[in-house]
Amino acid sequence: MNIGDTVLKGYCALAPMAGVTDRAFRELCLSYGASCVYTEMVSAKGLIMHDRKSALLMSLSENERPAVVQIFGCEPEAMAQAAKLAESTGCFAVDINMGCPAPKVAGHGGGSALMKDPDLAARITEACAKAVSLPVTVKMRSGWDESSVNAPALAVMLENAGAAAITVHGRTRKQMYAPPVDLDVIKAVKEAVNIPVTGNGDITDAESAKKMYEYTGCDHIMAGRGALGNPWIFAQINTLLGAGETLPEPPIEEKMRVMVNHIKKLCEYKGDYVGMREARKHAGWYIKGVRGAASFRREIGALESIEQLEALAEKVIISAAE
Ligand SMILES: Cc1cc2nc3c(=O)[nH]c(=O)nc-3n(C[C@H](O)[C@H](O)[C@H](O)COP(=O)(O)O)c2cc1C
Repeated sequence: MNIGDTVLKGYCALAPMAGVTDRAFRELCLSYGASCVYTEMVSAKGLIMHDRKSALLMSLSENERPAVVQIFGCEPEAMAQAAKLAESTGCFAVDINMGCPAPKVAGHGGGSALMKDPDLAARITEACAKAVSLPVTVKMRSGWDESSVNAPALAVMLENAGAAAITVHGRTRKQMYAPPVDLDVIKAVKEAVNIPVTGNGDITDAESAKKMYEYTGCDHIMAGRGALGNPWIFAQINTLLGAGETLPEPPIEEKMRVMVNHIKKLCEYKGDYVGMREARKHAGWYIKGVRGAASFRREIGALESIEQLEALAEKVIISAAE
């Protein structure tokens, strides 16, 4: 599929995930065939106030192509200014967050709260689209709650306001991340608009990706939690949807090798102290489902160095073989 002039190779994007989809993880997922990657959401206000952390969140390396910068906020002028700043990163599109349920975002009128105010959502989209020459896209939920499922109608408004593509996470804000995703609402958005639609929610393996893609008729799909400790999911999805073939799980030795290399990159980009602390959650995801995983939890929680991580990887391989 194309967004603007950019051809996305592959079927499935890596979803934006605050605290997770940093440079190391984005590069890794692209290497496994993610069609594109998104930055963590970045505060529009932070960007225009030249906050260093916000600027760092949206910075992209040469190895991250194609990439989208995602911004959040609720003021059209500030969002337009932020979109302009994002444009200079080398991203191919700027995405507006209309899905975040967190009180620190939605409680201030941004993220999913914009779904309750379609006129404001359209004004923000229009202001951003006019401010930049790159495509402006929107990621939304199905609605605020079960009595206000408005994604199809809102998507039409945003298309008219200049959105180049829409991603729909098929849950309401009230549902957060729990009940099964509503594929029908994604299908309804696809039928309502003429711009590309990306379906998102509960893609945990190639089979669930196929179901999302075929049932909804969407142009493209996006995986979030299903990629945690599991970046090869993108290769598995591309192989099933592209060639109709099932790619087996990598052997545990390969998984552990990928984990260690991932964390080495994390340390290279963020420094050993931050990298090793963030490594703990990733290590937990990489060993999920491995025999004896529970017994490694405490060790993971105390990881301080790459040497300890390598020793853990060895133990996990031995434990899996027992
Ligand atoms: C830890 C975490 C952080 C997230 N951060 C963002 C974010 O910054 N921007 C956004 O649009 N969605 C964010 N999301 C939502 C995901 O992009 C995605 O829509 C959601 O997890 C559903 O997809 P999944 O079932 O494949 O995980 C986040 C989700 C998680 C679990």
